[in-house]
Amino acid sequence: MLKVGIIGVGTVGASVANILRDNKNIITARAGIEIVPTIGVVSNLHKTRNVDIKLSDNIDDVLNDDSIDVVVELMGGIDKPNEIVRKALLKGKAVVTANKALLAYHRYELQELAGDIPFEFEAAVAGGIPIINALRDGLSANHIKSIQGIMNGTCNYMLTRMINDGIKYDDILKEAQDLGYAESDPTFDVGGYDAAHKLLILGSIAYGIDVKPEDILIEGIQNISSADIAFAKEFEFSIKLLGIAKKVGNEIELRVHPVMIPEDKMIAKVDGVMNGISVIGDKVGETMFYGAGAGGDATASAVVANIIDIARRGKGSPMLGFENQPGEKVTLMAKEN
Ligand code: HSE
Repeated sequence: MLKVGIIGVGTVGASVANILRDNKNIITARAGIEIVPTIGVVSNLHKTRNVDIKLSDNIDDVLNDDSIDVVVELMGGIDKPNEIVRKALLKGKAVVTANKALLAYHRYELQELAGDIPFEFEAAVAGGIPIINALRDGLSANHIKSIQGIMNGTCNYMLTRMINDGIKYDDILKEAQDLGYAESDPTFDVGGYDAAHKLLILGSIAYGIDVKPEDILIEGIQNISSADIAFAKEFEFSIKLLGIAKKVGNEIELRVHPVMIPEDKMIAKVDGVMNGISVIGDKVGETMFYGAGAGGDATASAVVANIIDIARRGKGSPMLGFENQPGEKVTLMAKEN
């Protein structure tokens, strides 16, 4: 059995516990071992949460419990999670985090501290899209020419509703918050900082750069006016907040800002909370990744995938093929002559 402690049981943390419960059979088959969320740490024990795991308000209940193998850090912020992740790694616990801000500032030193201990963060960029896996593994034979895309679900949701439905900025921000897409401080979303954190994580994998958010151009969506929206509609453009990392000669260009894109382009059609990221490799050409960039279940899907991967590594890759859930029957369609 692999025991998991979840630090931060908000929208994503609750989904992690619930996916491990709901999809237990298939996860056990794929991991080769049962994965059990044993405890969740929260700041307010009195708040009602949609989970059925034991809750505590003491982080040491996870860090000092030698039976916990994997710490999932979902608390947000930078300094406190940095301290907790360091402590967990020093105790030999594997760590999975979805914390983009933490990674944008401290990824290299945490990775170095981790050494051979798993330290994974698929959910930190583009929610449920396995973009980190793609860059690290699937595209690893390529020089990456560019990474460009919609990396913040909240902004994309807001822009889509503002353009398609004429809803006002403040009303739609509230809606994105209610849907659980926005950061606890939504300035990170609308100011472009969250997209910048994600861009820098992808840039660090693709180019090995160690650049901080302060070093790049970041412009959010707060200053998009109703005149901009009217202009975009009239000339059949969409407005998207893009994160762009591009290799130009020997230099890497990094920036986040709103862009007007003709409506017929693929990226312009990525609407709502969806993220869409184009990666161009020198050998593969353009690849395009699309999926839910925020939200509990989509983000937790990536967190749980990291936990399953950690379980497999611990077991020496036991999986030969995906198994069906008990009772699930696969029927092959007969070939028509
Ligand atoms: N606030 C983030 C977004 C959450 O809207 O994309 C997922 O990282």
